[in-house]
Amino acid sequence: MYGLPSLIPHEIEEKGQSMRTSTSPDSTAASTPPEANRVRIFDTTLRDGEQSPGASMNMAEKLELARALAALGVDVIEAGFPIASQGDFEAVRAIAAEVAGSSVCGLARCNDRDIDRAWEAIQFAQHPRIHVFLATSAIHREHKLRMTKAQIIERAVASVRRAKSCCPDVEFSPEDAARTELEFLCEVVQAAIEAGATTVNIPDTVGYATPIQYASVIAALKQRVPNIERAIISTHCHDDLGLAVANSLAGCEAGARQVECTINGIGERAGNASLEEVVMALKTRFDYYGLTTKIRTERLYPTSRMLSAITGLAVQRNKAIVGRNAFAHEAGIHQDGLLKERSTYEIMRPEDVGVPRTDLVLGKHSGRHALRERVTEMGYTLSDEQLETLFHDFKALADKKKEVYDEDLVVLIEKHLDDVPPLWQLVSLHTTAGMSVLPTATVAIRRPDGEIVQDAAIGDGPVDAIFKAVERVTGVRANLHQFVVRSVTQGKDAQGEVTLELEVESDDRSYRGRAASTDIIEASAQAYLNAVNAIATHRERGHVREVVGRPGAGA
Ligand code: KIV
Ligand code: ZN
Repeated sequence: MYGLPSLIPHEIEEKGQSMRTSTSPDSTAASTPPEANRVRIFDTTLRDGEQSPGASMNMAEKLELARALAALGVDVIEAGFPIASQGDFEAVRAIAAEVAGSSVCGLARCNDRDIDRAWEAIQFAQHPRIHVFLATSAIHREHKLRMTKAQIIERAVASVRRAKSCCPDVEFSPEDAARTELEFLCEVVQAAIEAGATTVNIPDTVGYATPIQYASVIAALKQRVPNIERAIISTHCHDDLGLAVANSLAGCEAGARQVECTINGIGERAGNASLEEVVMALKTRFDYYGLTTKIRTERLYPTSRMLSAITGLAVQRNKAIVGRNAFAHEAGIHQDGLLKERSTYEIMRPEDVGVPRTDLVLGKHSGRHALRERVTEMGYTLSDEQLETLFHDFKALADKKKEVYDEDLVVLIEKHLDDVPPLWQLVSLHTTAGMSVLPTATVAIRRPDGEIVQDAAIGDGPVDAIFKAVERVTGVRANLHQFVVRSVTQGKDAQGEVTLELEVESDDRSYRGRAASTDIIEASAQAYLNAVNAIATHRERGHVREVVGRPGAGA
């Protein structure tokens, strides 16, 4: 009915394959043409993902995540939008220069300045890619761009040609493709391929599509665009209706061979298609899709945890694949079934996605060697000097709590990825609180010039009193926008991690502060001071982010 060339379930049954057992891609790979049936994984966590509120990362964090993405085996890392700011440009350039194995891609609008800047940032990558985009839907043409169809085609062609003159690997995205008239979409895609695009991406920018409809768009492109075989068709689905993964998979069924996605599904608004869900759906249901990826799936869980630790964005407990409960069986009947035969209630093994059997790692007698091995397994690349600092912090923590878990190590590592210099340093802290007493806090803080200043304040509670005292000493005024305390691991002696966001009205932006300690009052003070340091550093560096349109955000 929809002209889909793919198999539907009853056809699989007719071909004699069981719907209940999955044939592993590895066991059948020999009988399938590997390239034609391989789906490229294009990770846009550092670009579309980083665009989402609360997900901004500094340069060191982006580099660490890019290394982890390369180790995960993604085909393409979209490292950022170089024209957006000096910070974005530098991060993309650093990733391009260092990360090997995956292609490194820079995003650009369809204009010469954007394209040249993107190329400048990625030119030294082992495999550079320029990704140009231009909106094509009637809504965007009329209200945002005020351009005719002919002008759109002309601009797209000129931009793909310019990008092609820099680099052979060029991707073109007709933004809001899923709401674009099919005939016009075919025309634009054909023209882009003719101009040199090697990948054509079909974004569902606003998450409006439904699986069968989205698949029918991909199928139509395959049928109607005469030069389509010269390019790879890609999906890029947003999750506004919770359909991003389903739409991406439907796109693959219809012939797409690249999926754009993000770790933990982070991204603009409700997010992008979740990388781990797409990859594990293809792997677990190889019997149905017959498609492979190059992802080392046992690295999915550590990469997910790393992103969550870097951004402070928690993964929901029941999130498929990487949520804490994804492999937890509570019901007695299920547990009984599992003990008798695992496949009764488990379609994937936790170890396939890298969920540690136990994440209890080290104690106070563990040495440097064990520590290095563990953090490498967790996906981090630390220099000798960084390992030494971590070892020192680890010993201090192991003195306070008996068992040090992976999560504890992540918090200790992340502390050193902050690129904000500690201009103001907490020297000492004293609070009083309780029933029928006025909460007070006294802080001693070392100023940037080295002098130690002491002050005290009262507040609604001890944390509020600390924040007021810090404000009195530093003179930095900001509104507390978000304040989250979470226990890093289980147990009464667990570290408490505080993540908070301060908003400065005059800057029209917010600043994040994060800290962990076995004492949450101390963690709150340190997190607040870290955010104050971010504000002070921002002012010192005079950073101004160029305001450019963000794709999918009314650009
Ligand atoms: O959602 C979108 O349309 C995008 C494009 C830049 C691919 O992010
Ligand atoms: Zn997007």
